[in-house]
Amino acid sequence: MSTADEASGREAAGEPRPNPRAPLEIEILTLFPGMIAGPLGESIPGRVQTRGLATVRIHDLRQWGLGRHKTVDDYTYGGGAGMVLRPEPVAAALEVLRRPDSTVILPDPGGEVFAQARGHDLAERSHLIILCPRYEGVDERVRSMVDLELSIGDYVLSGGEIPALVMVDSILRLLPGAIDSESIAEESFTAGLLEYPQYTRPPEFNGVTVPAVLTSGHHEAVRKWRLKEALRRTLWRRPELLECRPLSREEAKLLGEVRAEAKGSEPAADLDVE
Ligand code: ADE
Repeated sequence: MSTADEASGREAAGEPRPNPRAPLEIEILTLFPGMIAGPLGESIPGRVQTRGLATVRIHDLRQWGLGRHKTVDDYTYGGGAGMVLRPEPVAAALEVLRRPDSTVILPDPGGEVFAQARGHDLAERSHLIILCPRYEGVDERVRSMVDLELSIGDYVLSGGEIPALVMVDSILRLLPGAIDSESIAEESFTAGLLEYPQYTRPPEFNGVTVPAVLTSGHHEAVRKWRLKEALRRTLWRRPELLECRPLSREEAKLLGEVRAEAKGSEPAADLDVE
């Protein structure tokens, strides 16, 4: 049987199509391996790995620690609270793990804010190394060893493990074959907008009924309703997202309708004054 026949045979048997490209490899360098393994072994991230679409390897940074005590951190020059990750263990780890195709990522609250576009970009790369700092941060010289500093938002966590998990989860689900193509098509139809409202059974709950269009069976009417509601929700909750997203002719028309419907019921601009 040829490779193509094998593939279609598997598809016919309901098995996923094999990933046409090499699996994405991810190395996570951490002082707390136990924080990483559990979440990435479950649900979609776990399935992506068992299907061979990606490999995630977790490395204990302490193995590259200095001396008998495998020291990885030290006091900050100039004084101040907390310990800082030393550069030598990081350099030694990267010496072993880095390849010509690697992208080395440092989760850092001062980095570029990780957003969906960066997730798509990283999902297309072949080898990611994520260095999770602990303590009060990293020696400044570590920054020159990494390719990207990424933040998951304007708040400070106690280390890079949770940001690494957030990024890896969001990257793994974007790999071809990770989730069904219908979900991906639905996501791209409203890409850059907030999710439209969704309903399941029962048809009426606490006096609130499911919008009639969703049970009408008219696929085109459902599509249009969803797009309009995604635009409405985005306009109300995250209007800045609309500023940097080009609109199709249909979207512009629906947004116009949303704006007209909202006339007189817009939220007060000064709600949050201090
Ligand atoms: N480390 C601590 N807080 C962080 C954040 N918000 N994003 C990325 N890395 C971090």
